[in-house]
Amino acid sequence: GAPVKADVSKLEPGQRMTVEWRGRPIWILNRTPEMIERTEALGEDRLTDPDSTTPQQPGYIDGPLRSIKPEIGVLIGICTHLGCSPLFKPEPNAEGVGVEDWPGGFFCPCHGSRFDLAGRVFRNVPAPINLEVPPYRFESDDVIVVG
Ligand code: FES
Repeated sequence: GAPVKADVSKLEPGQRMTVEWRGRPIWILNRTPEMIERTEALGEDRLTDPDSTTPQQPGYIDGPLRSIKPEIGVLIGICTHLGCSPLFKPEPNAEGVGVEDWPGGFFCPCHGSRFDLAGRVFRNVPAPINLEVPPYRFESDDVIVVG
């Protein structure tokens, strides 16, 4: 499939947009400084694979935020358990997520998998690996090319 471009100039802090690439939803998230802080502060004991050691992202992606720019997260929006579509639950302690210390992120309603705002698996849930990061680059400050 061809690469797809996304203009993030109107993506407000804290908001998420979705584009389609190869038939899959790509989430682009504008993380606020506070969201970044929350995500970076997560203890490794609360994450299944904090360093993203299983193949799930391009080689040029590293660090806890799993992105090129700290504020812009790019993830494939498909649960790594059985492929459902996780819900965006960015607020700490959002209802329905099932844990009291929820740091904000994504919650899969199918079997309860949870992912933080970097797509990392949060706590003991069925999803075996973190949400995938697709190949992407910044064509300019505001335009991302996925693929
Ligand atoms: Fe998401 Fe099973 S498909 S938890």
